[in-house]
Amino acid sequence: RRRTGAVAVHANYKPNAVQLFSPSKINLFLRVVRRREDGYHDLASLFHVIDLGDYMEFETMPYALQDTLECSDPTIPTDESNLVIKALNLYRRKTLQTMYFKVKLTKRVPHGAGLGGGSGNAATTLFAANKLMGGIASNEDLLQWSGEIGSDISVFFSNTGAAYCTGRGEVVEDVSPPVPLDTPMLLVKPPVGLATPKIFKSLDLARRSAADPRGLLDAIAAARGVDQAAAVNDLEQPAFDNLPELAALKERLIESGQFRSVFMTGSGSTIVCFGSDAVPAFLKEEPQYKDLFISPARLITRKPNGWYEHSGLW
Ligand code: C5P
Repeated sequence: RRRTGAVAVHANYKPNAVQLFSPSKINLFLRVVRRREDGYHDLASLFHVIDLGDYMEFETMPYALQDTLECSDPTIPTDESNLVIKALNLYRRKTLQTMYFKVKLTKRVPHGAGLGGGSGNAATTLFAANKLMGGIASNEDLLQWSGEIGSDISVFFSNTGAAYCTGRGEVVEDVSPPVPLDTPMLLVKPPVGLATPKIFKSLDLARRSAADPRGLLDAIAAARGVDQAAAVNDLEQPAFDNLPELAALKERLIESGQFRSVFMTGSGSTIVCFGSDAVPAFLKEEPQYKDLFISPARLITRKPNGWYEHSGLW
């Protein structure tokens, strides 16, 4: 196209507003290392950001005395218990800014899913607030601060979108993406969600895997993919105890023979089918599976100095 020197300005362009994709994550493996004095658990987990996500709009409200959050899902609270509001409070506290924001959140990521949808919203909110306030905090600041309001928010500030996470999950070590980003995957989640605290509480430490987490990381990087033997998630046992249908669903997905590996992400209840995004026939044919959430997904990385973008149409 010929350059005219004129700058095209979108009709809805607002210098005090920003629209962003808010991604979610999966755990390619998750080992629980120990139960801590403070009630949390030390983990060793390979996280990867994925392109299933929500849509968020932010606007500064120079004369407002509080934030407003509108959410497309009426079952999600929009008060201070929402991580979006917690993220805005955190940002103001850390930067001594007094700005309030209007946030519109259009949800696509299911909750109680082990996909970190709410954590992704919190990370996206910190990034957006900082962008609208002129970028006064660094990416490293946002990563560090985010650990104060949740364990799996920091990972979204990883430079690669792939991170080996330890501590509660908030200690982030970037790794170069161990698996090709275009690896197809299918996410399958029963209508019942699982509450993270309950799953951690019902974990029987004696029934954990003995696999060395660094060994799992090396195996996945060497194989350029997740084989079933490396797809370890110590939270599957308590999740399956709470929801026996989930164990049966995982077995059926393995038996379909369509996937390189099948494993639960986070504290569930989403099952990741790795290596193909074709929906197995039994899920389409059997009425007991008619209410499942089913979505293809891809791994994504963050743009340097920017934010995540969905890899396809949405
Ligand atoms: O940190 P976050 O608020 O996401 O954690 C939710 C709950 O999950 C915690 O209150 C805790 O019960 C459990 N949890 C844990 N160990 C972790 C992360 C979360 O026990 N590493």
